This record gives sequence, structure tokens and C-alpha cells, in this order.
Amino acid sequence: MKPRSRESKASRRRASGSLVVVGTGLKAARQLTPEAREEISRADRVFYLVSDPLSERWVKSLRPTARSLVSCYLSGRPRGEAYERMIETILAPVRSGHTVCVAFYGHPGVSVLPSHEAIRRAREEGFDARMLPGISSEDSMFAELGFDPTRSGCQTYEATDFLVYRRRVDPSSALVLLQAGVVGNLNYSSRPSQRGLRLLAQRLAKVYGRKHEVVLYEASVLPVVLSTIRVVPVEQLTTAGITGSTTLFVPPRPRPPDRESVRSLRLRPSKTTRVPSRWRLDPRGNETLS
Ligand SMILES: C[S@@+](CC[C@H](N)C(=O)[O-])C[C@H]1O[C@@H](n2cnc3c(N)ncnc32)[C@H](O)[C@@H]1O
Repeated sequence: MKPRSRESKASRRRASGSLVVVGTGLKAARQLTPEAREEISRADRVFYLVSDPLSERWVKSLRPTARSLVSCYLSGRPRGEAYERMIETILAPVRSGHTVCVAFYGHPGVSVLPSHEAIRRAREEGFDARMLPGISSEDSMFAELGFDPTRSGCQTYEATDFLVYRRRVDPSSALVLLQAGVVGNLNYSSRPSQRGLRLLAQRLAKVYGRKHEVVLYEASVLPVVLSTIRVVPVEQLTTAGITGSTTLFVPPRPRPPDRESVRSLRLRPSKTTRVPSRWRLDPRGNETLS
């Protein structure tokens, strides 16, 4: 029998196929980075998965032969199946020796399983594969809410993962939940499961209280349209109209600094050790402390 892996891996390594995964930001026409644009322009094959028609048009204007991966989704079928189809669609031309570029909206490595898995498999098979960053929905949200994640800390989860693994939160840090619009639903669907939303509201109420205000954020993907920033109490989450493009932001419940740490660090009480009594948004979405 032939010594299996060495020979085949080495010969694959000599293959010229390669993969680069890029992000388009939320508005491809304005947020695509120069390096991502360059990769899209020079690859032999281009695939994309974006969330709005303008971004699609933009990618197509750069590469008219670019192929959408959206047909990998089948309504009512598990999203996992669609991801598998995407990965194999992306890898087929890499295996035939082509340079392949895949563009996912936002940051291609944030809450995007097929991007990480395609890179992992490509590398395992001896091909060059890498990822370039993009502007994520969370990045956009920090900018529009005027929230600095280093100020109180910030925990980010995928909403179903948050429930299923009973992730522990520190309520004095902010909490960001992606995919709340499909919480508890592993199939490809545009609706959240009501059961999932109810459970999410219950979990949050336990930690923060039913009246704690959370932000439902939807970044605009079109040039003339404003983003949507809605503030609702936890108890209204199930009826708040969360969609597939909603990111849920749970503001921190401020707590006083630890006196002993302040003393041993010899910090003088100042702005940095001040106890914020409340975190809230002003009408333009900026964070204010009062
Ligand atoms: C599959 S994840 C993809 C995230 C994407 N890769 C990114 O970097 O933002 C989908 C989730 O991203 C968030 N998202 C997508 N589009 C958004 C938008 N326009 N505004 C706010 N959040 C958005 C929502 O939480 C949504 O459920």
C-alpha cells in the first residue's frame, strides 16, 4: 500500500489553489477595505454572501462573474446543511488550483461558521488560506451608540449559544447578543422562535431585572437610510419585533470601584474611579452618565 498522507499532502501543497476570505462591512460600497477590494479584483473565482442588494451590486460591479452563496440556504432546512454546501462550493475551485476569494458581509470571522471552517479544511489539505477583517455590526454599533467596550467590559455571544450554554454574565459589563432574531431556531428561517425569545427575556430578567432597558440595534445598510436604535425594557423583548438584522445590546448596570484595589493602586478618586449611577442613551444615541 502507498504511504498515504505524505505524498498526497505534499503534492497538494504544490498546488496553486488558495483561499482568501474577506469582509464587505455592512455597506460594501463604503466599508469595503482597499485590501479586500484588491483580493476580490484579482482572484480567479469570487463568491459572496451579503445582506442587501446594493452590496451585491457593488461586488458584481467589481467582478461580474462573482457567484452568490445564498442558494445554499434552503427554507426550513438546518442552517448547518447550508454551511456545509457553502464550504464545499468554496473549496471545489481551490482544489482545482484556482485562487478563490469569498466575501461575507460585516466581519467575515464574526458569527460566520463557513468562513472559519473553509479556511481550516483548506489548510489541512495543504492550501494557503487566510482571512482579512471587515467592519462588523458590533463595530458599527459601538460607533453609533457611542459605547466604548473597554470602559466597563463587554461580553459578546450568539443568542442561542448564550441560552444553551447558560453563559455567565457580569451585569456590570455590557452584553451583546447576535442572532437574537433566530434565537432557538437552528433552521434557515426569517423568524425567531417565540419560545427562544421568551427564554431569552426570562434569563435577562433574572440577571438585570424586568425593567432593565436594552437596545435593539439595526445598522443602516443603505446610504440615505438611518440606523434604527430602539430602547425597550427586558419584559417587552418578546413583542419588540426583533428581526434577523437586530443586534441586542444590554447596557451595563454600573457598580462602584473596589475600594481596596483603588487604595492599593494609590489612585486618587477622579473621573476614572467615579461611580456612574446610570448608563443611558441621549437622543442621538450617545452614551451619557448621570
Ligand atoms: C450571521 S451573523 C453575521 C454577523 C456579521 N458577520 C458581522 O460581522 O456583523 C448575523 C447577525 O449579525 C447582526 N447583524 C447583521 N446585520 C446587522 C445590521 N444591519 N445591524 C445590526 N446587526 C446586524 C445581527 O445580530 C444578526 O443576527
